Amino acid sequence: MTDPAAPSEAEAAAAASEEEEVAAVAAAVAGTSTTLEVAAANPLRDPRDKRLPRVAGPCVMVLFGVTGDLAKRKLLPAIYDLGNRGLLPPGFSLVGFARRDWKDQDFAQLTHDAVKAHARTPFREEVWKQILEGIHFVPGEFNDDGAFDALAMALAEIDQTRGTGGNYAFYLSVPPKFFPVVVEQLKRTGLSDAPEGSWRRVVIEKPFGHDLQSAHELNEITTSAFPESSIFRIDHYLGKETVQNIMALRFANNLYEPIWNRSFVDHVQITMAEDIGIGGRAGYYDGIGAARDVIQNHLLQLLALVAMEDPTSFDANSLRREKEKVLNAVRLPANLARGTARGQYSAGWQGGEKVVGYLQEEGISADSITETYAAIKLEIANRRWAGVPFYLRTGKRLGRRVTEVAVVFQRAPHLPFSKDDTEILGQNALVIRVQPDEGITVRFGSKVPGTAMEVRDVSMDFAYGESFLESSPEAYERLLLDVMIGDPPLFPHQREVELSWKILDPIEEFWTTQGQPEPYDSGSWGPESADAMMQRDGRTWRRL
Ligand code: BG6
Repeated sequence: MTDPAAPSEAEAAAAASEEEEVAAVAAAVAGTSTTLEVAAANPLRDPRDKRLPRVAGPCVMVLFGVTGDLAKRKLLPAIYDLGNRGLLPPGFSLVGFARRDWKDQDFAQLTHDAVKAHARTPFREEVWKQILEGIHFVPGEFNDDGAFDALAMALAEIDQTRGTGGNYAFYLSVPPKFFPVVVEQLKRTGLSDAPEGSWRRVVIEKPFGHDLQSAHELNEITTSAFPESSIFRIDHYLGKETVQNIMALRFANNLYEPIWNRSFVDHVQITMAEDIGIGGRAGYYDGIGAARDVIQNHLLQLLALVAMEDPTSFDANSLRREKEKVLNAVRLPANLARGTARGQYSAGWQGGEKVVGYLQEEGISADSITETYAAIKLEIANRRWAGVPFYLRTGKRLGRRVTEVAVVFQRAPHLPFSKDDTEILGQNALVIRVQPDEGITVRFGSKVPGTAMEVRDVSMDFAYGESFLESSPEAYERLLLDVMIGDPPLFPHQREVELSWKILDPIEEFWTTQGQPEPYDSGSWGPESADAMMQRDGRTWRRL
């Protein structure tokens, strides 16, 4: 008899596969074999693994902004993790560009430290050595023509020595004010023009502007040098496994879609709560605020994935078309004072530590009206969703870090029980736990064991950690790989960016007339006005 708790053969093979893969990679990267051969060389690798054909050709990743937080915490570790998983192309080279008087070794040291501190997969000397062979640094200011000429020469040399064939991805991990000058330089040096048989791509990070007008201008600048098909706009939420799983949940199953509409759904709550404050990001965050920082991009993308119709396929055009349609159908509340709320954290306690308020953070002026909490009620004017509110909320210094999408269903039309027996029965809900504790929960009523017919909420859980032996890659691993492969579905199109600003602009405009946001204690769940907004609709925020 088999032990039901024991991993199945397939699961055991998959676990072994991951370890074997890492070992096989190390061996293969040392030689000249391709990633495909690495995978093929691994007998334990599950042949159904869809990553198999997703192999990038030789290329160079040029990183602008190597000393920034994003590069150190996310991008450089993600590159290493890809290498460790055998997913970097042969000859892969990494070029850093920054205003530092550095040599290759200095950039290599920064990369090494970042990898050691933040990589998801174990540190392996062999993998690191291979990455190290392809590391280069070009010092310079963004407005220094000589520095960009040197970059062009360095890239040409790398093509010769590492066989990267003129394929370059330029990652602009720099504040948007530098985009125009960097793009202009790439144009001037001819680096943005792909010679026959090679490719040139540019990767830009949010914020894509700070309103519709500036987003449009930014796009004009970028498209003056790169064709739309070569522009990869990163919204890292789309790279998260749990976010991609929204599409699997909805469109690979027959269970949910029939009830995924106004006839069954009461409302939807999308929450992105963070326990951290703004840390050292005052320069970026002040004047931007919670809504521009994450609602314009991450939360509206979540809304689009939850509410869109099924795309005819998962290619970029079909997927983007459906997201655009639904974003186009989003309607703001008629009364913005009643349908939105904003707040600013004040001092309080978090994780047993006393923390300062937003206005006392370093670099923030004492009269800043930037919101660190935002809640918005939206509706979607189409047949599927008419009358179903979508409540979006986000905030810094809230009770805990949690991102989730909760689809809350209407109550059963009739309850053939006594009132007392269903007193603590809530509404059915399906909760997509984006992070942490990734998974899905279904909440429904169940009889409490005993002689009475008492009904109470229970939940059924799917947890990634329990169902899969594979660990989830970091969002940036997936997205960087997609850039190198040239696979665009997980990158928002400019039209989505502009539609999202169209939703947000009137709210931002309204808020600027409202003075100081309502203060809320650090470690709490936000301002009272956000609770009042829900109460007016006879609802409450989920307690997380
Ligand atoms: C970024 C925001 O896009 O997402 C940050 O600019 C925020 O303010 C971060 O902290 C959160 O990302 P994650 O993946 O930790 O939820």
